[in-house]
Order: sequence, then C-alpha cells, then structure tokens
Amino acid sequence: MHVKDRIKKLRDDINYHNYRYYVLDNTVISDYEYDKLMQELINLEKEHPELITPDSPTQRIGEEPTKVFPTITHSVPMLSLSNTYTKEEVIDFDRRVKNLLGGEKYQYVVELKIDGVAVCLIYRNGRYGQGATRGDGFTGDDITQNLKTIKSIPLNILKPLEGVDEFEVRGEVFMKRNEFIKLNKMQAEKGEKVFANSRNATAGSLKLQDPKIVAERPLTIFVYYLLVEKGKKDKYDSHYHNLKLLYEMGFLVNQNLRLCKNIYEVLDYCKEWEEKREEVGYEIDGVVIKVNSLGQWGILGSTAKSPRWSIAFKFKAKKIETVIKDVFWQVGRTGSITPVAVMEPVSLAGTVVKRATLHNVDEIKRLNIMLGDTVVIEKGGDIIPKVIEVDFSKRKPDAKPISAPERCSVCGSEVVRFEDEAAIRCINFSCPEQVAKRIEHFASRNAMDIGGLGEALVEQLTENRIVSNPADIYFLEKEKLAALERMGNKSAENLLSKIEQSKSRSLERLIFALGIRYIGAGAAKDLAKRFSSINELRNAEFEELLTIEGIGEKMAKSVVEFFRRDENLNVLEKLRKAGVLMEKKKEEVTERKTIEEIDGKTFVLTGTIERLTREEASKLIMENGGKVSSSVSKNTDYLLLGENPGSKYDKAVKLGVKIIKEDDFLSILGMG
Ligand code: IVH
Repeated sequence: MHVKDRIKKLRDDINYHNYRYYVLDNTVISDYEYDKLMQELINLEKEHPELITPDSPTQRIGEEPTKVFPTITHSVPMLSLSNTYTKEEVIDFDRRVKNLLGGEKYQYVVELKIDGVAVCLIYRNGRYGQGATRGDGFTGDDITQNLKTIKSIPLNILKPLEGVDEFEVRGEVFMKRNEFIKLNKMQAEKGEKVFANSRNATAGSLKLQDPKIVAERPLTIFVYYLLVEKGKKDKYDSHYHNLKLLYEMGFLVNQNLRLCKNIYEVLDYCKEWEEKREEVGYEIDGVVIKVNSLGQWGILGSTAKSPRWSIAFKFKAKKIETVIKDVFWQVGRTGSITPVAVMEPVSLAGTVVKRATLHNVDEIKRLNIMLGDTVVIEKGGDIIPKVIEVDFSKRKPDAKPISAPERCSVCGSEVVRFEDEAAIRCINFSCPEQVAKRIEHFASRNAMDIGGLGEALVEQLTENRIVSNPADIYFLEKEKLAALERMGNKSAENLLSKIEQSKSRSLERLIFALGIRYIGAGAAKDLAKRFSSINELRNAEFEELLTIEGIGEKMAKSVVEFFRRDENLNVLEKLRKAGVLMEKKKEEVTERKTIEEIDGKTFVLTGTIERLTREEASKLIMENGGKVSSSVSKNTDYLLLGENPGSKYDKAVKLGVKIIKEDDFLSILGMG
C-alpha cells in the first residue's frame, strides 16, 4: 500500500476506535492494539512530515502555550436559560408558548442539564475548525487548541451533513464524577490546587495556557445544539432529529433525552430525573426543556437574556438538617488552624456526611453557629458539604458558643491571627502536628518519594521525638527504627536504603519537598528551571522571582520569607550535611551559553526601555547568568538606563556604577 493510503487508513481506523471508545463507550480493540496503530501513524508521520494534517489524531496536542486567548464574536448569541423550580412555573411556561404559537401544534424535547461549561465548536467542510467559550454570551475566548485535546470532540465528522459546508455545535464540557475525584487526588499529592467541584475543575482546565496539560485533564463533552446556515434551516427543523444526526456524525449526545407530546410528559421526566440524579456518573442540576421545532424557535424569539422556546427546571439543592455535636481545630502543615464541625451522621446525595469545614472564625460569626445547633447542610457538585444556615427555631437553651482557641490544641503555644488573613495560626515551628505534616509532605511521592515513610510511621517518629524536622530523617539509626511498632530489622533496613536513595532527587523535587507555602509541584518546576541550586534560589530577590513565568506575588513573597527564617536555614544546612543533593544534577543542567559581560553581574533597571518590557530585559539578563536587583548599591555592576530615569540614576552616578544604555545592552546581546 502507498504510504499516503496507509496513513489515511490508520487515521480513519484510529478515529473510528476513538468514537467507539469515547462516544459509544463500546470498544472492539484492546488498548495494546490501539497504541500499536497510533505508534505506526506517529512513525510514518515522522518519516513523512509533509503528510501531517491538522486533523490527524496525532495532532490533538500540537500547539505551543498561548499567553492570552483571542476573543471571538458568536454568530448567534449564546444565551442563558431562565430557571424554574416548581411544577406551576413549568406549566406557566407552557401557557406562554401555547399563546405565542397561536394554535400551532408543538412538541418538547427534554434533556438533562449538565453542570459544566458551555462551549461552541465550528466545523468547516466536515473538519473541526474553531472552538470558544460562552464568555458574556456575545463574545468568548478562542480556546480552539484546548478543546482539540478532548477526545470526544471529533476532528473529522463521520458522516457529512447534507448541503451544509459550515455548521456550529454547542455543548457542555464536563468531568465525570470519578475522574474528577481522581484528578483532585493527584492535584493534592502534587501540592497543586484542589477544586471544589467538577465545574470549577472543568472551567479551570479550559483556561489553562498549555494544551499539553489540558490534554491530561479528563474532559468530556455532551453536545446539545446544532446551528446551520440560514436558508438551510428547513431541512434541519427538528431539534430531536438534529441531536440524532449529531450522534451519527460522531459527537457525544446524552442519550437520556425524550421527545414529549405535552407538558405533562415533560413534568413526568423532570420528576423521574430529580429522583434519579445520582444514577448518572456526572453532575446534573436540572432538566432543559426545549420546543422541538427550530421554525417555532424563530416565532417565539428571545428576550435579551434568554430564549422564549426553552427553560430550565432546576432540581432542589441536596440539603438536609443535622446537629453540630462538636468542633475541633485542625492544624495544617503551615500552622493554619481550621475549625471542623463534627455532626450527627446523615446521608446526603449518596454519601454519609459526618464532618464539614467551617473555614475560619469569621465564617462561624457570619453563621452565628453554636454547639448543639441544628444546621442545614448542602451538597452541590461540591465534594465538601457546606453548612448553609442555622435553624434558629431549634436552638436549645444550653447551646454553647464556639470560640477560637487561644492556644494550639496540639502544642499549647499561643495562637496568632495575622492582619491580612482570615485564618488563625500556630506559629510554633516545632509544633508536633506541623512537624509531622511537614515530614509527611517531604517524603511524599511527588516530593522526595521515600516509600514507607507514611503517616503512621511519621507519627511514631515525631511523638517519640526521634525526629523534629525533615532533615532529621537522614540521621536515623537502624536500632531506634527497628524498635518502633510494626518495624523490625528488615523494615528498618529497607526504609534506610530508601532514605539513602532519596538524597539524589532532582532540584525540582527538593524545592517542592521543602513545603514553601504556595509552592506546589508546578511552581517548584518553574523555579528549578531558573535556578541551578537551592543556594541560588535562596539569594534571589523578590523582583527577580516575579520575572519567572508562573510565579506570582504571593509565591515570590513566600519564597523570600521562607529563606529568611532561621529554622528553615538550619534544616537546609542539615540536609546539606546529610549529603542531600542541593543543586541540579548534571543531566538537569541544560547547556546554556552565557554572555561574559552579563554572566555573574548584577543589574538594576531604571526608566522606560523602548524595545523591551522590563520583564523581557530581566529575563534576558538572567538567562545569561546575570542578576537583577531592585535597588542600586555598591554591589551593582550595571545600571540599565531607559528614558526618564528615576533617582536610581543619581545614586548610580554617586556610587560610580557603570551605566549602559539600551542600545549598548542590546548590542552586547547581539540584538542591536
Ligand atoms: S441549551 C439558549 N441544553 O445551561 C439555550 N443548555 O442556563 C442554550 N446546559 O449555558 C442552552 N445542559 O451551559 C442546553 N442540555 C442542555 C444543557 C444546557 C447544560 C447549560 C448551558 C447553558 C446553561 C443555561
């Protein structure tokens, strides 16, 4: 077979198996066979790059990260729906439809209302062309590349839409419940953001700048709307039929839809699904009711906000009452103390709820909650149930106020509340609870990866005061370890060898392992890209940190503060003594050519630089081994002078610091 034909055959086969897997949920080949087809295609495309097309299944994650998403205008506004909550409101809606249609017959289509994020997809000549968010309904963000990574979005439709060259599909991107829980677990392990619910996780994922990361997020889409060009509408008048067509074209259409002859059938569907909502593996928050005929959509029209041919029936929030039995104050790794309510166990939305976070002291005040109170708890798509309100009619005379502890419940030290924070904190760095959590974090899988050093063992080690910081684990003695519960000689030996192995982890892992506030695995990676040792990171100034992509003010401030504290410096010194690698390994250091005039020199920037932004100039300096400082001192080597310089110029002159102008700077870099 000709290479071109083989490539086409492979693409068709892969697309077909994708469709079977992601849309029909019914595979006919094994993962192994699928991977083999994909690998063959990748190899052939490598040999014949001229044959790569954007719709090849290998190209789902092609593009480089984008800084800002361009805005696109929707051809037809993406309106929202009015909500109804009762049977009567739904009947009212039907009455309005009936009146406006003046005696014409009509039917309804009812669908599940998916709790996700609305997007539109544009297809040209059967190929996926562009995709965008709803935005404000009139304009949205062009997230074409991010959407392309979603495997249930066909890059090529399986069956052409007769007489139509260009069409638009709208739908809801979402995550299945189990996939969302898995994602959150992974995020937590990596010290990254944990999402409150699957909708937030979906929205956050679609807004990521790097399609490679989006591709790792378990996103799926249900499409619910087909828009064809004007003039071709007659053929595609039935919404119900259109959804059938979309399914045949390779889109994932939720199959729990129904064509209803009248509003009573609609109401039956609503009641049925309000009871069954937990049976599907994704979050639904209601039912969408739509008139079936698109011609009638035209007659009914829309208000500024929502169409008159459709309405949402919203399920009641999953709420229940229970009693607050106790509140305990949980100490975190960074010393934050969070109130957690212990409640009479109740069953809600498929799980037994016993605890709920009360977040902080302000929240307790806001709710005016007391021990013994009856409260209403609610579970939206959220993993953690929320305490919504107190049922004051049931407050008992012996209800006790909940007061914030003045001392840490674990170590007894004084509790502090910082001005700009809602949380209260135990500021005793040696608080056993904080110590234990710091060590657990240090040893965790995405940090120094010391298997076997889990919660139970760390607890024994800290309680017996064998260790009091992460560095101490490198000085553990076999005899002491072996004497601990559930240990013994063999386990002690195993653990010690794992601890030994962990001494040469990457710089990125070590930075993450230190547990600097706000520095998760991703930020640690960004820092390790810029600095080649812990020492360099320690010497970095706030401004310099800010120039690193991915590092914001909060993070930069936290890094600087971390390295200011003696306790942390002592731990670092001990790690160094233990022989823990504190710099990049040879293979981590990417060959970089530096420019002699810049390498090792300290720069200060002043005034407006014409051809570069300050960030760009700082980046260039640092990429070439230089440092950027915010103020002029005798240690400054160069002042980079822009237009309208500030007082830094006078100081530089006074101190005799060399001054270079933009042009000279650019010519040193070979950019002049
Ligand atoms: S139709 C003009 N169908 O609910 C009406 N929307 O409040 C277009 N949604 O923005 C929407 N499931 O994000 C429609 N089966 C479904 C839906 C659905 C969820 C979302 C969508 C829309 C919002 C309306």
